[in-house]
Amino acid sequence: MESVRFRNGALEILDQRLLPFEERYLSLHDARGARDAIAAMAVRGAPAIGLSAAYAVALAAREAAAAVAPRAALQELCAEIAGARPTAVNLRFEVQEATATLPEDPNGWYDAALRYAEGRRAAQQAEDEAIARHAMPLFRPGMRVLTHCNTGGLATGGSGTALGAIIAAHRALGLQEVLADETRPRLQGARLTAYELQQARVPHHVIVDGAAAHFMARGSVDLVIVGADRIGQDGRTANKIGTYMLAVLAQHHGIPFVVAAPRSSCDSAWQGAGEVEIEQRAPEEVLAPLGTQFAAKGSPAYNPAFDVTPGNLVAAIVREDGLFRPPYQFR
Ligand code: MRU
Repeated sequence: MESVRFRNGALEILDQRLLPFEERYLSLHDARGARDAIAAMAVRGAPAIGLSAAYAVALAAREAAAAVAPRAALQELCAEIAGARPTAVNLRFEVQEATATLPEDPNGWYDAALRYAEGRRAAQQAEDEAIARHAMPLFRPGMRVLTHCNTGGLATGGSGTALGAIIAAHRALGLQEVLADETRPRLQGARLTAYELQQARVPHHVIVDGAAAHFMARGSVDLVIVGADRIGQDGRTANKIGTYMLAVLAQHHGIPFVVAAPRSSCDSAWQGAGEVEIEQRAPEEVLAPLGTQFAAKGSPAYNPAFDVTPGNLVAAIVREDGLFRPPYQFR
């Protein structure tokens, strides 16, 4: 099951909002449709939105080449794609890299952008496999592993980052079980990670986000491994809201807290006092999850989609080029 694919001139995205109940692809024929699908989280997960953005550049290139002022039209569309979600650096990275490969002649843009995107799909597959390989020494037979959000094949163009590594480790070593945080408010853990773990036949339980401390205190967690939307020069990591809480808890309980992500999620310019934009999503996601109102009618909500874990709480970072330990100095 591919999270993102390109067929008959259209970007096809597996609509993750419908999972685990329905597997349906959205067919997107223009750049703004692709941008909207990314913003609405029909596709999500930093590498998968990066890959979608690369294909969206191909759609933008096709539209712009037919415009009166092709270059200006391309720039405008690409800026819109890159801004669909602000925190995952992969989006901006792929748009920049894809546009850098375009030739002078607008007639050649579409083919060149498509070639770039197809190349990135193959590269993401190789990156995910390498991440799983480099992460293997972190696992032991019979381990109990806790993870957050969804970082499996649905979140990338390959087999996944943190969840891909967990599944590979289970196949190689046999884990006791995975605890999957449900991941409020959009429930990527309960809906998507549980779905992928079922398919991979990995023993698991879904837990509410607030239960992590309870299970750590009982000695039921040996390793926490999560993905990233952006990793700064010193290892600071922006990831799904709730990740920072897990890192603090893991440190308190002496449990290694590990981040797995490709180099395209690293942003060496994020350093010092530099801040990253944290996506603020609609309050309705909190007040009425999946469309059902739970909160008292009329109450407002805060809904930051990500938080930042300081690098000194991260015991290791796994990328496709190796396993890194602190102090981190990514360039
Ligand atoms: O809002 P989402 O679902 O796109 O957030 C996803 C995450 O936070 C993932 O941990 C991260 O993007 C890595 S996916 C391999």
